[in-house]
Amino acid sequence: MIVDWLSRSAPPAARLHPYVPGKPVEQLLAEKGMTGGGLAEAVKLASNENPYGPSPKAVEAARRAAAEVHRYPDGDAGRLKRALAARHGVNPAQVLVGNGSNEVLELLIRAFAGPGDEVVCSARAFIVYRLAAAAAGATPVLVPEADGLSHDLEAMAAAVSPRTKVVCIANPNNPTGTLHGPEAVQAFLDALPRDVVVLLDEAYHEYVAHETGESIGRLAHPGLVVCRTFSKAWGLAGLRVGYGVGDPDLLEVANRFREPFNVNALAQAAACAALEDGDWMAEGVARVLEERRRLEAALADMGLLAAPCHGNFVLLRHPETALLAGRLEDAGVIPRPLGPYGMADYLRVTVGTPAENARFLDALAGAVEGL
Ligand SMILES: Cc1ncc(COP(=O)(O)O)c(C=O)c1O
Repeated sequence: MIVDWLSRSAPPAARLHPYVPGKPVEQLLAEKGMTGGGLAEAVKLASNENPYGPSPKAVEAARRAAAEVHRYPDGDAGRLKRALAARHGVNPAQVLVGNGSNEVLELLIRAFAGPGDEVVCSARAFIVYRLAAAAAGATPVLVPEADGLSHDLEAMAAAVSPRTKVVCIANPNNPTGTLHGPEAVQAFLDALPRDVVVLLDEAYHEYVAHETGESIGRLAHPGLVVCRTFSKAWGLAGLRVGYGVGDPDLLEVANRFREPFNVNALAQAAACAALEDGDWMAEGVARVLEERRRLEAALADMGLLAAPCHGNFVLLRHPETALLAGRLEDAGVIPRPLGPYGMADYLRVTVGTPAENARFLDALAGAVEGL
């Protein structure tokens, strides 16, 4: 090594860990020595993607935008912000868009928390909060779940100190699938200092909207930013586009940390077109919810269901998940191991198409034999 880059990083990267994504099909095939024709046969249920894809109108809009990619995109994403503002009954200045909701979360954490500051989240909340806090040089404060899965909102409020700058909640949470109703979330917000930034991550909102109703414009806290994504119900994970809705002055501060042109032209065009085809999104959500019920019933019958989930995924529990995951992969089905969450005995599996889910259940029945 010519230079010890690790010791030169600021904040010290020795304390940081990269995000571990779901294993791509190509990687599984390479690991198993399968090439070419087998590609279509492996099923990735590891990244909570939408198995039905985006509205064809969004695909067509991206195709049209592709002809113009020698131009920079609209750096302010004006049309997308206006469309989102209209959808949520807010002003465009109350919308911040990002390269996935991941970027929105990171921007807000970086803008408001640095060395000496604390970011409070649930210990088994979506892992990006603590990774982003650490990357910003702040200290993640991880609050244990009382029941091992569900955010303990009272304990989280009690963990807020004068050094707390940001609080993150995932509702529903990934990977535990738990959900808090609007009254519980509002009571939590009421217990927080007014100057704390609250990131309410609703990446799976569309899968629970029928239960919770709309939170934007209903939940109140000066520092509240409700974060949503086009990656799940809208089926645009590969284009990377998400957004936050909150106080315009707060978002204006975060905007100063934003890269120019952070949302690419294809993503902006596709997201705008997707919003105009809400029926497509709703139909996909309904199909996923129906399949989730079927999967959870089958897992319960096998004695493997950890708990019912509120997103587009299911959670199973088994003492030998490493073996189980290996056997599922041998059968061409990729689940998501949850070791990084300290949940080594759990596996998360995304709800796929009926055929993919049947394949998973088949593989699982074989995989648990003798374990
Ligand atoms: C709870 C939660 N928040 C945010 C994200 C980030 O999604 P994206 O960056 O694709 O919008 C995910 C992705 O899995 C998630 O599960």
